[in-house]
Amino acid sequence: MIMCGITGYTGVNQAGPILLEGLKRLEYRGYDSAGIAIQSRNEADDMYSIKMLKATGKVSHLVDKFEAEPDFKGVCGIGHTRWATHGIPSDTNAHPHLSADGKFAVVHNGIIENFAEIRSELQKYGIEFKSETDTEVIVQLLAYNYNGNFKKALMKTISRLTGSYAIGVISAEHPGTIFAAKLSSPLLIGVGIGENYFASDITALVSNTKNVIDMDDGEVAEITPDEVKVYDHAGNEIKKEIRQINWDIAAAEKSGYEHFMMKEIMEQPQALKATIEPRIKDEEIVFGEIKDLDMSKFNRVHITACGSAYHAGCVGRGIIEALCRMPVEAEVASELRYRDPIMDGKTLVIVISQSGETADTIAAMKECKEKGATVLAIVNVVGSSIAKLADYCIYTWAGPEIAVATTKGYTTQVAVLAMFAVWAAGQLKTISHGAYASMVIDIMRLPERAQRALDLNSRVKKLADKYYDNQSLFFIGRNMDYAVALEGSLKLKEISYLHSEAYAAGELKHGTIALIEPGRLVVALCCYEKLFDKTVSNIQQVKARGARVLAVAHEGNRSIFQEADDVLLVPQTDPLLAPVIEIIPMQLFAYYVAEKNGCDIDKPKNLAKSVTVE
Ligand code: F6R
Repeated sequence: MIMCGITGYTGVNQAGPILLEGLKRLEYRGYDSAGIAIQSRNEADDMYSIKMLKATGKVSHLVDKFEAEPDFKGVCGIGHTRWATHGIPSDTNAHPHLSADGKFAVVHNGIIENFAEIRSELQKYGIEFKSETDTEVIVQLLAYNYNGNFKKALMKTISRLTGSYAIGVISAEHPGTIFAAKLSSPLLIGVGIGENYFASDITALVSNTKNVIDMDDGEVAEITPDEVKVYDHAGNEIKKEIRQINWDIAAAEKSGYEHFMMKEIMEQPQALKATIEPRIKDEEIVFGEIKDLDMSKFNRVHITACGSAYHAGCVGRGIIEALCRMPVEAEVASELRYRDPIMDGKTLVIVISQSGETADTIAAMKECKEKGATVLAIVNVVGSSIAKLADYCIYTWAGPEIAVATTKGYTTQVAVLAMFAVWAAGQLKTISHGAYASMVIDIMRLPERAQRALDLNSRVKKLADKYYDNQSLFFIGRNMDYAVALEGSLKLKEISYLHSEAYAAGELKHGTIALIEPGRLVVALCCYEKLFDKTVSNIQQVKARGARVLAVAHEGNRSIFQEADDVLLVPQTDPLLAPVIEIIPMQLFAYYVAEKNGCDIDKPKNLAKSVTVE
């Protein structure tokens, strides 16, 4: 789980309150369940056992459970906030997970890609699994490998794991000791006096210690109250530096960014990676979750969603139609639900939702199901209503999105739609081998290209300084660029409260051009190169009426400089995938214009993150 939180403590104080405090600090990241485990000493025989508490929902539920258990005592333990990826949010799937013999407990961030293989291997030895998670294999394998030497068993265990992890492990047989290990998931050790900590995130540590050790991939830490030893992947002890941090809690929660929106914009390369990488194997798109979906059953596709998710759907319509050569419609859910749409068993309905709880989208999907359509949902929040109601569900795995204005939610939806279109076209044989291979390569390069688009940050800020006091703006584009215009315009208006409209560039002359007057800003999206000349003539029409034009075009496009007042060049990619990259400077533009106008960026007025009412 890329966005979960982990923490651990060993020392002389009661671990329970310290772990719960750490988990509260991690709440801002978003999660759906939480849990803690401690080593508990039995007075009678001086033996230790592991005690656990878990709760679905808020950390406050876990605190209530803790307060009702006066015997939950121990000075060494681990804790976790979970954002579900494998298995629904539930007490059973919440971490920590315990080995079948009850001797070991683990908390884990990340995804174990080969968990199914390890799980079936261990099941052959009679080991019973309790949860649906990928994480449980770590602790079961650890117990299986254990021969009296904790460190050796852990090293052997992690050498089998592929994917990503930051883990914390305790054992009933090693009081006061925690092992923590990392691969492609963040992990820090907090160094105190007579007590030590670990966490996935600085926020869980700053109120206890400012001295941290940054763990690197492949390293393992042995943490006791008086000492922290770090080993390399071969088990040799290595020297690590202790770094002093000077962040306060508020800055730490947002990883140093002023707003969650900026943090989430900047997280897009990582979020796209999490969406894409696990689904590409040997240059093929592999969707385990829809492997039995037979595309030849359908004669058309209908996409429905609300707001930005609908805009992602507009991009998806273009990609699916282009690659699958099948009619595709996209429609806002609030209209579709009351339209008595014509559809039947040959219709595939794709519903898109970050939260998975949007009331109009749920109503529209129910309507489509009643008419016999098959529903495929593209959702971020695991176990949400839409995910459960759909016949098939593909998760975007973007991690929790806190800011009201969606950013990584939108780009990962488009990435899933693009992968789906290529996958479906492969099944329908409407795509050549060469085109399939080249799309897969371009999809895999989206995270890196998104990162390069983010390099425009300071340039976009300057443009926002120049244009922030425009009271009314237009976004124009054709084909895929029009879909991006819709999203760019919504992003700006919802957080900056400026009036903004998106127009199919060719439509301007049918009325809207009357509103163009000297000084009006027109943002022209020009990455759909097939129609570049057409968009240029629209740019010339608005310029002739005194508008100022900010254009977004692909790197290498020289002629745009003669047409627009300002130009943002983004990395070139396949025209069908360009929206993922092209929207990034538009998100930054909306952010900086809103900042300049003194708006509450993360919580814009009149808006909610999840619209669960009609
Ligand atoms: C805009 C935004 C909204 C949502 C819409 C649907 O930035 O976030 O327009 O896209 O409310 O929400 P979900 O995707 O949760 O169904």
